[in-house]
Amino acid sequence: MSQDLPLKAARQRTKVLRVVGSDFGKFRENVGLENISEWEVSQSPSAKALLEAANYLRTKDIPVAFPTETVYGLGADATRTAAVKGIYSAKNRPSDNPLIIHVPDLDMLRYVLQSTTENGATNGSHDQIPEIYKPLIERFWPGPLTILMPNPTPSKLAPEVTAGLKTFGVRMPASPLARSLIKLVGVPLAAPSANASTKPSPTTAAHVLEDLDGRIELILDGGSCPVGVESTVVDGLCDPPVVLRPGGVSIDELRECPGWENVEKAYKDHGETGKAAPRAPGMKYKHYSPKAQVVLYEATCSGLEKGVDQQALELKDGNSNIVGVIRTRHWKMGGGLLCGNFKEQERLVEPLESDSQVGIELEVREADLHKPLDGATIGKLLDISIGKDSRSIAHGLFSALRELDRRSADVIFVEGTLDDEDIGAAVMNRLRKAASQIKS
Ligand code: TXA
Ligand code: MG
Repeated sequence: MSQDLPLKAARQRTKVLRVVGSDFGKFRENVGLENISEWEVSQSPSAKALLEAANYLRTKDIPVAFPTETVYGLGADATRTAAVKGIYSAKNRPSDNPLIIHVPDLDMLRYVLQSTTENGATNGSHDQIPEIYKPLIERFWPGPLTILMPNPTPSKLAPEVTAGLKTFGVRMPASPLARSLIKLVGVPLAAPSANASTKPSPTTAAHVLEDLDGRIELILDGGSCPVGVESTVVDGLCDPPVVLRPGGVSIDELRECPGWENVEKAYKDHGETGKAAPRAPGMKYKHYSPKAQVVLYEATCSGLEKGVDQQALELKDGNSNIVGVIRTRHWKMGGGLLCGNFKEQERLVEPLESDSQVGIELEVREADLHKPLDGATIGKLLDISIGKDSRSIAHGLFSALRELDRRSADVIFVEGTLDDEDIGAAVMNRLRKAASQIKS
């Protein structure tokens, strides 16, 4: 695979197209599963930017970044090898890590599930969606859930999408912008998170630009992503069905669906032992890592409320230390570290709209950092509170990690949350991967 194709082709700085509003389209009225059968694109003013991106995706081999409700995706036509290869090279993604595809409606999924015969005709007119997935589709789509489907042979998908596996991962995003874009392109979009490989996933267009400026030509900026962590990936083709990656749909929610009562966890977090290798190839790679060293305090660790262990601070000589603190439920401002008064706050991410469940404010507060023994100023402390419940925490997590990196933090202390609280498992999975030290 050519590693430098997008670099050569992306001659100038990446263009960011702001897309405002949310009236991109709607589902055609129906009932039950059919309720989400067909997505119609509206003629809103923002559709102009979407049309430009759609034309680009149809004709070029460089991917386009676009927002979904989980994180920004780096999209390409999933049916064309050259376009899909463009994703791997822009991200520096290992080629054995398959991509998920995104569809705007069930009609496009059914199209992919039909195999193509040699004369171009399609086989399989009946509904090929496995029964096991129907309750999940009804309840969670459009939304942050990716399901594994058998890949027909021959397949309409470029072989690079599945990286040689017999299945493909698919989801229908909840973002009207994402669904309209895919509908306008007319083919499923393969899209991993739009970060450089190993970095935290991007939840704003600015994050994408940080990682991929000059490596791609176009970013659609639709504001910050409400969920903030990636989709849950499940495999219902085995018995019992399994969760391959925790994400925006919790395991408890899955268990409420017929056929999914006994769903098992097939991923491993740091420190957990188990026999099997990770079933989602992506779960074996280093991930979600800022440049700074991350020290994670598990929610269950004794003495958690007291905050950061002062003795654990490894400091440089002089006053150039930059220490970040990301707080959730218990830690007070500054995470218990000795510091001066906090200066004026700086807004980091716009609070989400008031109708959202996760209306959090995310601000960076700065103070002088003092040495525990003699009180001398030894640098600065940057404090971010990302909220108390797992939905807010998920929404702010990657933004907070990236912001502290941008401000050159040497170390980031993070207060963890509980795995069994809603989407807490997804938050903790990402944090355990990002951490170089875990206090449990
Ligand atoms: O929320 C999301 O899922 C975002 C947005 C952009 O939709 N996308 C995303 O894609 O996170 P990516 O490529 O970063 O993660 C997809 C995960 C990887 O861990 C990959 O290994 C796994 O899904 N995966 C994809 N296809 C698979 C397959 N056929 N079998 C097993 N695992 C698969
Ligand atoms: Mg990713």
